[in-house]
Amino acid sequence: MKHPGWWKMLTVAMCMAFVACLQAQELQGHVSVILLGATGDLAKKYLWQGLFQLYLDEVGKGYSFSFHGAALTSTKQGQEFITKVLESLSCPEDMAPGRCAQLRGQFQQLSQYHRLRTSEDYMALSKDIEAQLEHEGLREAGRVFYFSVPPFAYADIARSINSSCRPGPGAWLRVVLEKPFGHDRLSAQQLATELGSFFREEEMYRVDHYLGKQAVAQILPFRDQNRKALDGLWNRHHVERVEIIMKETVDAEGRTSFYEEYGVIRDVLQNHLTEVLTLVAMELPDNVSSPEAVLQRKLQAFRALRGLQKDSAVLGQYQAYSEQVRREQQKPASFHSLTPTFAGILVHVDNLRWEGVPFFLMSGKALDERVGYVRILFRNQAYCAQNEKRWVADQSPCLPRQIVFYIGHGELGSPAVLVSRNLFRPALPSESWQEVEGRPGLHLFGRPLSDYYAYSPVREQDAYSVLISHIFHGRKDSFITTENLLASWVFWTPLLDSLAHEVPRLYPGGAESGHLLDFEFSGTQLRFSRPQLEQLVPGPGSAPKPSDFQVLRAKYRESPLISAWPDELIAQLAADIEAAAVWAVQRSGEFHLALSGGSSPVPLLQQLATRHYGLPWAHTHLWLVDERCVPLRDPESNFQGLQAHLLQHVRVPHYNVHPMPVHLHQRLCAEEDRGAQMYASEISALVADSSFDLVLLGMGTDGHTASLFPQSPAGLEGTQPVVLTRSPSKPHQRMSLSLPLINRARKVAVLVMGRLKREITMLVSRVGHEPKKWPISGVLPSSGQLVWYMDYEAFLG
Ligand code: BG6
Repeated sequence: MKHPGWWKMLTVAMCMAFVACLQAQELQGHVSVILLGATGDLAKKYLWQGLFQLYLDEVGKGYSFSFHGAALTSTKQGQEFITKVLESLSCPEDMAPGRCAQLRGQFQQLSQYHRLRTSEDYMALSKDIEAQLEHEGLREAGRVFYFSVPPFAYADIARSINSSCRPGPGAWLRVVLEKPFGHDRLSAQQLATELGSFFREEEMYRVDHYLGKQAVAQILPFRDQNRKALDGLWNRHHVERVEIIMKETVDAEGRTSFYEEYGVIRDVLQNHLTEVLTLVAMELPDNVSSPEAVLQRKLQAFRALRGLQKDSAVLGQYQAYSEQVRREQQKPASFHSLTPTFAGILVHVDNLRWEGVPFFLMSGKALDERVGYVRILFRNQAYCAQNEKRWVADQSPCLPRQIVFYIGHGELGSPAVLVSRNLFRPALPSESWQEVEGRPGLHLFGRPLSDYYAYSPVREQDAYSVLISHIFHGRKDSFITTENLLASWVFWTPLLDSLAHEVPRLYPGGAESGHLLDFEFSGTQLRFSRPQLEQLVPGPGSAPKPSDFQVLRAKYRESPLISAWPDELIAQLAADIEAAAVWAVQRSGEFHLALSGGSSPVPLLQQLATRHYGLPWAHTHLWLVDERCVPLRDPESNFQGLQAHLLQHVRVPHYNVHPMPVHLHQRLCAEEDRGAQMYASEISALVADSSFDLVLLGMGTDGHTASLFPQSPAGLEGTQPVVLTRSPSKPHQRMSLSLPLINRARKVAVLVMGRLKREITMLVSRVGHEPKKWPISGVLPSSGQLVWYMDYEAFLG
């Protein structure tokens, strides 16, 4: 029998708790959450559960809530749907079933369905919320609108919210948006501008659900809490490579209409994997809990990403894909899709911390396993004198050293943070991360699990639950700001454009793909490690292969011509340059090489950078044949091309590098600044007899060479060695070596590549010395040698 006073005490305590609760609610106010698209897949799978989790976490902490599921469906159907979903909501494993049922009941009471179609419907919803607030005497804290709807519906909904459903004064508005946020830089900008006309930046929460994955959300806290150990390690001197990987076993069946428009790069790499990349690469702010500081650093990381070239990517498509598209979109039997379902990308971060460290990003559908991870592999800098059998996991500096943020699935089956025991024992928040129990026989990344300090979350949480909580707490650093979004598209769009017509490698899918999708890098290039299997190539049949030809040696305009397939041609030219360099250095101690800009020399520069270690770089002087009148940092600048493809990979002393002075006194190619004369003086001071050892030229489709254009007399004759000229295409202003100076060279190589050059190649083969019409025809070294390097497409068509 309980003492009668006991009941009294309990009643008083309960009343006090109730009053405290009411007071607290009064303190914090009421939050209305409106889930738009409440009957959709995402809502059903994750969002209702996330909202329930929010309620479980926050109930009794001072806020009151109401949840409004909204869609276009009729009220009856919508309400039925929601009732069903709410019945299936689950509680954390450690919650007593009775308590769970009670809280679920409360949540159901607080949730209702609204049909929202017109702006009047939004107005009515707002009135409902206001009436409830008034009726219950609550102060409004804020409103969350979660857009789980396709982006084409964004603008109308945003307009309605802005005009008729904003909360009252003093309360906040948060709108949550789901990707896709555009298709490229332009469309992302348009969408952002449109949304920006309805909402302020701080009101928008763009979701990337990977930022809610527990292992991803742990990257910055981990870097922060282990600063001391990582300070010396997290850089190019120690990190060998970073892998950011998301492999999936599912394919795109059922969503090919979306997938055809987006493909794997837009679907996954531009967002999820890029976000992860910035978390690894960014400089840590002093205060990692300051969203502003984190977002700022992230933006800086975006700006340090080196622009991607076409050959930074390898693309694949699982074999059944085109058939699925034909079926789902009623395409004719002849239809073949070029959409990649697999991509590997090599990214470089151009700053002192990461220079030279490859970051691999990879994702694909229909692969052999489902797994996601970020793996930071450190270099092994030690040599271990003992026999390998005596190496001890937590001591040997010779065993692999790695830190892995294991996003999920895979062999481990749960998120985790792994740190090789020979690195350091990491600190993780003990209330939320615990050591993983031993799993004998389990190997991860080549080592038994016991080789790692391994931690997994105490309570596994779905990404959406994590993000919904962050929305509620205003943690903007877990979301994509407009600036970050556009920075990401600026990075990806040029690559996407250049790959638009690329044919992806076909792969059978699953384990059957074997090693077909393995890739490797060399310098800045990425390529598949194995050749395509013959039976998978819907190839040109009897078309000739490079191996069918030998390098062709002939004459062109009475000078030697070398013609070959592009790879061989470039290899030949690079070898000739190396030979010329070695010879010049033997003779005079220096090699003066003048290079042209444009796209043809890019593979040559790459070849020189990655294959020609015998080239005497320390004694080489690099000059520019011509330059566009833009700042040297401008991507259009020829010097920038030289910097990107050659200079940063070789060791040419910086005093041997001679960019053209097109940007003096904060202005571009002004006559009065005498930049051309300065360059001429520099050449005459350093190059014996102003005679370059080798000048590399190209030939334009109009017959121009260097920046000497038809119908523009500057530089074709006369005494000025360097001249300012005008190009018919933008940027118009140029600086160029003159024909007389070019013709003083010991050797001139003209590189001509691609089918587009076919016509001019034919024409120039027939004309005489007519530099005014075809400046290239004026190239004829007075005592040096001229050699033409043309690929088969330019020469034979
Ligand atoms: C989505 C992509 O953003 O992420 C899907 O659109 C992909 O194509 C999914 O399957 C993967 O997410 P998760 O959480 O299953 O790894």
